Amino acid sequence: MNGNAPHIVQYQGSKRILAPQILQYMPRHFRRLVEPFAGMAAISIASGIQRRAEYYYINDLNQPLVSVLKAAIEHPNELVEQYSSVWNEQFICEGGSISHYYKVREDFNRGNQSAANMLYLLARCVKGSVRYGSNGLFNQSPDKRRNGTSPKTLRQNVFAISYYLRGITEFSSKDYREVLDEAKPGDVVYMDPPYQGVSNVRDSRYLAGIDFDSFVEAVDCLNNRGIDFLISFDGKCGERQYGEDLPSELGLHKVLLNAGLSSQSILLGKKETTFEALYVSRGLQSHMPQTKKLQYDLFEDIVV
Ligand SMILES: C[S@@+](CC[C@H](N)C(=O)[O-])C[C@H]1O[C@@H](n2cnc3c(N)ncnc32)[C@H](O)[C@@H]1O
Repeated sequence: MNGNAPHIVQYQGSKRILAPQILQYMPRHFRRLVEPFAGMAAISIASGIQRRAEYYYINDLNQPLVSVLKAAIEHPNELVEQYSSVWNEQFICEGGSISHYYKVREDFNRGNQSAANMLYLLARCVKGSVRYGSNGLFNQSPDKRRNGTSPKTLRQNVFAISYYLRGITEFSSKDYREVLDEAKPGDVVYMDPPYQGVSNVRDSRYLAGIDFDSFVEAVDCLNNRGIDFLISFDGKCGERQYGEDLPSELGLHKVLLNAGLSSQSILLGKKETTFEALYVSRGLQSHMPQTKKLQYDLFEDIVV
């Protein structure tokens, strides 16, 4: 699989491009992949295509986001039809497509949080990045240069994703700790919490942030219950490290995955590579590719 696994829509923080590197740290086959911070579920999708797990569990605190994933996987045709209808209205809206976006956003904030409305807002907003105000309302602006994913492209992607995940995926929208309570030995849990730069506070980028100490406690509990997991957690760009390391007492291996040149640095005329940290639980360390395992014995961090 290359970095172009199908996706429903662009989503800020998506691990779609890093998925091939992350999957190398999972067993070839296992019972269930649990994603408590699924976002647009790039890792479940990539893993589903490789038929790694028998079952999938997708969770995100953001309920409308989960409703998009559930509709895409369980009822792809209905979702594409409903999305087409919202998407096509932008071309006949009296005030033009920007005004149409604001109408859909208002409708969404008034309570019509249908999967089609959420999907249209995601497809049409700046950088696919959801933003919420302190009142909890969706307040991201439209991307004025794009009309959002066409229904034709959406159809192809959604049907591909549904093909691999339908009938074997369960969904929920709750706090990650409740999901971790349900994990069992034999599962692999993949966690991609909001970045620390935006955690410990209400997170306007994602609806909610997480508290670092509670997260460490939850990870420690997984260790004690013998559950395997991988955690994407900040990283570094050039000499700058983002976020705090997870404590060494957790016994995790930290590897740094090459996420490519930083677009922000390019804008500033520099060429700096971004590395994203991946923490591997004890039980999965035996699945690390041999060459990487050897490297790990020599260095604290491995640059893949
Ligand atoms: C970095 S994004 C995940 C991106 C995902 N890996 C992908 O490929 O699309 C983090 C996600 O965590 C969710 N989130 C934030 N706080 C949460 C919590 N307490 N419990 C569950 N999900 C949470 C956010 O809504 C956001 O979608």
